[in-house]
Amino acid sequence: MSNKTLAIIKPDAVGNGFTGKIIDRIIEAGFKVQAARLIHLSREKAEGFYAVHKERPFYNDLVDFMTSGPCMPMALEKEDAVNSFRSLIGATNPADAEAGTIRKDFAENIQNNAVHGSDSDKNAQKEIAYFYTSNEILDY
Ligand code: RTP
Ligand code: MG
Repeated sequence: MSNKTLAIIKPDAVGNGFTGKIIDRIIEAGFKVQAARLIHLSREKAEGFYAVHKERPFYNDLVDFMTSGPCMPMALEKEDAVNSFRSLIGATNPADAEAGTIRKDFAENIQNNAVHGSDSDKNAQKEIAYFYTSNEILDY
């Protein structure tokens, strides 16, 4: 079990003014934000991040969406971070997400779903390194 995960506040949520509210939920849930930065993903960077979904019918739309405006990748720390964060954000489709989850409260639809969370410890490590160097991850 690892204690880190990579979250992204996606362009819909940043554009809708939910960045602060979402960070508040994350901290209230016991996560430490060890790195955070507002960035506008290039097409190449977004394609690389979601390369695992390259063959999916929604891939092009997903890359369009992720490059449509700024987003905020964050390195988070908490015990059992990957599972704990995925519980906090809820199901991919906000219509299926449980009450009180971030996606239920802030997502627009199955694509514009407010936040990303790593799905395994291995991917968390890879995804954190995709956005941050080790000396940008601040332990406190
Ligand atoms: P994420 O990776 O962003 O945390 O989301 P997830 O694990 O819950 O969902 P995943 O299956 O990995 O899908 C990645 C993202 O692709 C978009 N999506 N669109 N139009 C569609 O049917 C569809 N399905 C997925 C969402 O933005 C989803 O979070
Ligand atoms: Mg995923």
